[in-house]
Amino acid sequence: MPQKITVSVIKADIGSLAGHHVVHPVCIELAKKELEEAKKEGIILDYYVFNCGDDLELVMTHRKGESNPEIHELAWNTFKKAAEKAREYKLYAAGQDLLKETFSGNIRGMGPGVAELEFEERPSDPIVIFAMDKTEPGAFNLPLFKIFADPFNTAGLVIDPKMHGPDLESTGFRFKILDVLEGKSVILKCPEEMYDLLALIGTPGRYVIERIWRHDWLPAAAVSITRLSLIAGRYVGKDDPCAVIRAQHGLPAVGEILEAFAFPHLVAGWMRGSHHGPIMPVSLKDAKCTRFDGPPRVVALGFQICDGKLIGPADLFDDPAFDRARMIACEIADYIRRHGPFMPHRLGPEEMEYTTLPQVLEKLKDRFKEEH
Ligand code: F6R
Ligand code: MG
Ligand code: MG
Repeated sequence: MPQKITVSVIKADIGSLAGHHVVHPVCIELAKKELEEAKKEGIILDYYVFNCGDDLELVMTHRKGESNPEIHELAWNTFKKAAEKAREYKLYAAGQDLLKETFSGNIRGMGPGVAELEFEERPSDPIVIFAMDKTEPGAFNLPLFKIFADPFNTAGLVIDPKMHGPDLESTGFRFKILDVLEGKSVILKCPEEMYDLLALIGTPGRYVIERIWRHDWLPAAAVSITRLSLIAGRYVGKDDPCAVIRAQHGLPAVGEILEAFAFPHLVAGWMRGSHHGPIMPVSLKDAKCTRFDGPPRVVALGFQICDGKLIGPADLFDDPAFDRARMIACEIADYIRRHGPFMPHRLGPEEMEYTTLPQVLEKLKDRFKEEH
């Protein structure tokens, strides 16, 4: 039996430069140093550190499985130290996502986002790591559906015998959907249950794709889910999710995975976590939220896994083929911004990260008269 490898992507907003804009290079350097140390000590096999906007992203490979306390503690301590550095430089919102004081075995529920996938390394195993800023985990719902269930996006669903077998049992993918309000999950298989799946994931603020397997339970994708609102007891920020997707040889090709991002769909987040806006696929150098604290961004980094080591990355949206998606995102941004404080640009009251509505209602309560 080949040894299993785990890819852990753990991220947190530990403070940033000039508002909620980008992680400061000193924090990135510090994180690299910490993970280099851990690599030397044999805790992890390899690592890659980057940022998407104001989120510090740690990619780690190891053989310890998912939810491993040692790996989670390494990430937690790295974020703690980076947040200290951010405080020293008086960076903005230093330590924002580190909601608890002490580590207690699993970083889930403590503020940072976690996407982990354990699998048997294939003779050649390409993966794509995604990170988004200024949006919520449900922002992955639409592209993941397209990648793993829409034959107009993914040709392999029709013409690759490993995805389209002789019967339904050996065809398609299984989606684990989390109801983030109830804390329950359900697994649905496509194509058989496609309409049920869509009925749920079309509400991305509540029903979130957390994990995907091929029909034969081959692990295919994992998305970070951390409803900061529920942890903190109040809403402290959109979660700015990350994801790991495996590619090729009986799974969607890298190009099929990227194709889903050629359409800059509308997501919730953007300014003050309270607006809808288009998600713009960008290279690492453009992974920074500027206009109206956005528009929301997504980066895609391609790696090959080689005996647990990360070969790469390839900065996959650093490509003129995505210029048009970026242009469309800018056009949508112009259009939707003109709505100012009106819905549907502004989110509905229950989804807003900031709201003065209760105070406004309180102030006006005696001036509201019954209408007969
Ligand atoms: C959205 C985000 C930013 C801030 C905004 C106001 O997730 O991080 O858009 O919400 O810049 O920030 P504060 O309240 O810190 O002034
Ligand atoms: Mg921030
Ligand atoms: Mg962020």
